[in-house]
Amino acid sequence: MKHINYRFSTATTAFWFDGSFSYLKKIVDQKYSVIITDENVYDAHSKKFNGWNTIVLKAGEDYKVQATADAVIEQLLEFEADRKTTLIGIGGGVITDITGYVASVYMRGINFGFIPASLLALVDASIGGKNGIDVGVYKNMVGVIRQPSFILHDMSLLGSLPQREWENGFAEIIKHACIKDAAMFRQLETNNIPFYQKNKKAISDLVRRNAIIKVKVVQQDEFEKGDRRLLNFGHTLGHALENQYELMHGQAVAIGMAYASVISEEMTGFKDASRVARLLLQYDLPTFAEFDKQRVFSVMKMDKKREKKEMNYILLEKIGKGIVRSIPINKLENIINELQ
Ligand code: GLY
Repeated sequence: MKHINYRFSTATTAFWFDGSFSYLKKIVDQKYSVIITDENVYDAHSKKFNGWNTIVLKAGEDYKVQATADAVIEQLLEFEADRKTTLIGIGGGVITDITGYVASVYMRGINFGFIPASLLALVDASIGGKNGIDVGVYKNMVGVIRQPSFILHDMSLLGSLPQREWENGFAEIIKHACIKDAAMFRQLETNNIPFYQKNKKAISDLVRRNAIIKVKVVQQDEFEKGDRRLLNFGHTLGHALENQYELMHGQAVAIGMAYASVISEEMTGFKDASRVARLLLQYDLPTFAEFDKQRVFSVMKMDKKREKKEMNYILLEKIGKGIVRSIPINKLENIINELQ
């Protein structure tokens, strides 16, 4: 049982790569812990939860709202959870967000950790400390930045993952490749989802490589004043599309990345937009889609990456090198309107 500690500005997170659910008893005190999970994860792995105080939530982004946080807080009170209690989120991005958010406000902040149960949560959502909820169509509009004390990987949980969740996770993996890792981009070009589903070592190495990319970016810029913004590649348009068109997060981000690559060709001289689109299609993700430009722009301009009359938009200079460009809102509106 080995772990690696990664230091952030206000806390350290212990990463247990290639671990197992069974380690949990050694990491936390079972009597003083409460697990938060969703119905899908609970039903697929119910035996693992025996002996643990567990709160089971309905699954899905629709439940990543304040009402769910309130309901969890009520249940924590029923469990008589106190400042010594550790919350453990076991699930995908909705569960890690709700767990981190509630843990940060309950009794003004208690300990928390995660066992990510989806590919997207392993490579992205569990890492970085942003924990929040959606408000209407505005994603992650309310929340905190607070790091979990541990992240425990159990790759066997991917065994119950639906196919579309693999696609969702690969959208974020392709994002990391686009902004930071040209060698990984080339590796992805030679493989596909069935290869990673069959090859345990390959998926385990890929997960670790992506987790470390995200950790390093967050370590350098935890509060998103600079380089962390790169992780939003594909997300500005993606988030605006996601709730309006009920797309999966990965699908919305994939469309956002395809368009951001085209915008990059116009603004930075990037030459590989078609290569990005080809890779997205190879991982069964969408690229270009028809959408109501005005409706989407009206949500997009409320994005947290807006600063007064400018939007920090993430573009590519080349594969493996993302950059932040501040684009005036009215210019961005024209760019969006002119997209094919
Ligand atoms: N919790 C996801 C992030 O901090 O980016």
